[in-house]
Order: sequence, then C-alpha cells, then structure tokens
Amino acid sequence: MTSDLPRHVAIIMDGNGRWASKRSLPRIAGHRAGVENVRAIVKHSAELGIEVLTLFAFSSENWRRPPVEVRLLMDLFVMALEQEAERLHENGVCLRVVGDRVGFPAKLRRSIAAAEALTAGNQALTLIIAANYGGRWDVTEATRRLAEEVAAGRLQPADITVEMLGNQLMLRDVPEPDLFIRSGGEQRISNFLLWQLAYTELYFTNCLWPDFDRAQYEEALASYTRRQRRFGMTGEQIEAASEAATGVG
Ligand code: IPE
Ligand code: IPE
Ligand code: MG
Repeated sequence: MTSDLPRHVAIIMDGNGRWASKRSLPRIAGHRAGVENVRAIVKHSAELGIEVLTLFAFSSENWRRPPVEVRLLMDLFVMALEQEAERLHENGVCLRVVGDRVGFPAKLRRSIAAAEALTAGNQALTLIIAANYGGRWDVTEATRRLAEEVAAGRLQPADITVEMLGNQLMLRDVPEPDLFIRSGGEQRISNFLLWQLAYTELYFTNCLWPDFDRAQYEEALASYTRRQRRFGMTGEQIEAASEAATGVG
C-alpha cells in the first residue's frame, strides 16, 4: 500500500545563503530569492490540494547570526507580509504565524496580526509560518501551561496524557505533518517541529531553497507516495487494512 497526497507538508527552507554565495551575491539576495520561491511553492501546494503547509522561516537560534542579517531578514519578512497578504487572501489562504513574537520588532508584530486577521476565515490552504520558533520552546511552553493547571489544583500530575501535552502545542488544531522536506543538503531537524515529526516521512534534498521548484516538489511528493507508513505495525497488517478498506482480496 502506498500513501496518497500528504495533508500536511512541513519544510525547512535552507540554502539561501549558499545560493547567493555561489553567485557572488550578498546573503540577503539569497533570502529575497527564497521569498520568491515561497510564493511559488504556496501556489503549487494550494493547486495540489494540500491542506496545511508549514514553513520554517526563522528559528529561535537564528538570532545568533550577524545583527545586520537578522535585521534584513526582519525587514524582508515585513515587506513580504505587506505585499503578499492581499494575494493570499484572494486565493483563500489562511495565514498563521507560530513562534515567540515577543522578540520581534513592533512593526513586524503589527504586520503579522493584520495578515492573520485578514485571512482568518479562509479555508483553501492553511499556511503556517514558523518564525522565532523552536521545537523545544513549543514543548516547554506547553509543559508550563499544564504545570499551571496542576498548580491551580485543576489537574493531577498522574492524569497527564500524551494528548493533553499535544493539545497545548502551537499546531494542536492541524493534522501532524505527513511529509517533512529539508532543502540545502543538511540532514537534521535544527529544532523545528520536534513533537509533531514523530511519525512524519522525512525527505532531504541537496537542492538549495531558491532552486527548489515545482519539479523538485513533485519529486518529494512522489517519494512520499511510494512509502509505506507503518506507525509501529507490520507491513502485512497495513496491507490487510488497506485491502479491507478498498474491498480487494
Ligand atoms: C535558510 O537559509 C534561511 C534562514 C535560516 C533564515 P540559510 O540562510 O540558512 O542558508 P545557508 O544555509 O547559509 O545556505
Ligand atoms: C534552519 O536552518 C532554520 C530555517 C531554515 C529557518 P539553519 O540554516 O538555521 O540550520 P542550521 O543552523 O544549519 O542547523
Ligand atoms: Mg542554513
């Protein structure tokens, strides 16, 4: 049995800096090209009928970069939101930003809030931008909220379940990612969605993010389709379940 189209695709968009260096351009030119590519991949995802697309735009560790790069990235983020919000809205895309906003400049926080409010009712594609996001931060915040419930006497520690913790995370209301893609050649998670990737199919490509086009995307989706997701079961169990579902055998 093979899997169909993923409902939720999560992408680490890596390789912008190297894309620029290869062309003797400043790193920010790579980030600009990366934003252009986001537009294309969002469009393609919506056309394919993917329900949720989560993009890692800025990690909680990216503050360690040179201050000028961080500042240019923030400016680019504001510009992209201001330019794209209307278009996303017209295409029925619901935009959400997950991550710790407290660290962002006020102007960026305002742009995020405006774009989210504008697109809140849309249902074609949910586009989640992870910005100042870290998987460890997400789990820590969720744990803190459960601890508050315990401290208030509303919850017993012995009653805490996996579902309860999951229900406190930022992506609690969307299906877990079916397919994870990382461009740029590194094979690591870099503190992206730690909890949610437990059973996600992982796909790594050397292609640098600005070059990750429709054909590359299709290749990742095709790889996903060829895989058998077993969730701890045996291949035979999965086969039997799929035959029962399709009335074969
Ligand atoms: C990813 O590209 C974008 C961000 C982290 C903001 P990089 O900037 O990490 O590109 P490389 O890895 O240096 O090529
Ligand atoms: C991960 O890329 C974060 C984003 C793409 C936003 P990095 O380039 O920051 O990851 P590392 O530092 O190589 O692990
Ligand atoms: Mg990188």
